[in-house]
Amino acid sequence: MSELLALATSIAREAGAIARERFHDPRTMATKSSEIDLVTDVDHALDALLRGRILDARPNDGLLTEENSAHAGTSGVRWIVDPLDGTTNYAHAYPHFSISIGVEVEGLRSAGVVYDPMRDELFAAERGRGASLNGRAIAVSKIGELRRALLATGFAYDVHKRRTPNLTYFERFLAHAQAIRRAGSAALDFAYVACGRFEGYWELHLSPWDVAAGLLLVDEAGGRTSDFDGGPPPAAGTRIVASNGAAHEAMLAVLRD
Ligand code: IPD
Ligand code: CA
Ligand code: CA
Repeated sequence: MSELLALATSIAREAGAIARERFHDPRTMATKSSEIDLVTDVDHALDALLRGRILDARPNDGLLTEENSAHAGTSGVRWIVDPLDGTTNYAHAYPHFSISIGVEVEGLRSAGVVYDPMRDELFAAERGRGASLNGRAIAVSKIGELRRALLATGFAYDVHKRRTPNLTYFERFLAHAQAIRRAGSAALDFAYVACGRFEGYWELHLSPWDVAAGLLLVDEAGGRTSDFDGGPPPAAGTRIVASNGAAHEAMLAVLRD
């Protein structure tokens, strides 16, 4: 395992243990971009912990975390961190959330970890070296037909303000897929595609920290990632499709219809 992945793994586990310990504590909460976009005391605590650990170990690296301003580095390595992915779930004590850590080297996604502390599931990937779950190699599923596919999606925090086109996509996929889940952690949605639980996942308005680890996990597990037109998946996180590969063209066709 590379030094970068080893560090990502150990700090994801450390942050996850704190999220798990504090899971039933009373929450302090505020809102961000809209009244349904929450941030909790634990989002801030994990953000501070992860920033501290990364910059202590690697002071010359760049760093982007959801709850803080970006730190420019000089080493060519950049960390992209969602300290708590699934904040709405966490705020309601719904036990489905994760810590997501992606590492780019010279702009290329090179290592990624998504950790679910409630199930103690650690998904990891390294460029060219495959993906794993708790140390065991994982691979995407082989199901190509949407009728037999379990799909996932999510909705951005502006759903109250305007009708999102994702309602149209959701409705179309409902008519084609076996079932759809909206579980509330984008990073775990990618991880579940990578390990074959979901055949595919799409979402319109993600952010860099939602996708940095997940895209690498899916690619390294043998899946396919793209934008809605089949082009490269935007690192910014907009209009992302991640699948087992077998179901990808069928998903793109539904999004195109
Ligand atoms: C959110 C979750 C959710 C997705 C949203 C994200 P957060 O991240 O990943 O599943 O649908 O688009 O913003 O706010 O819990 O870190
Ligand atoms: Ca997130
Ligand atoms: Ca978050």
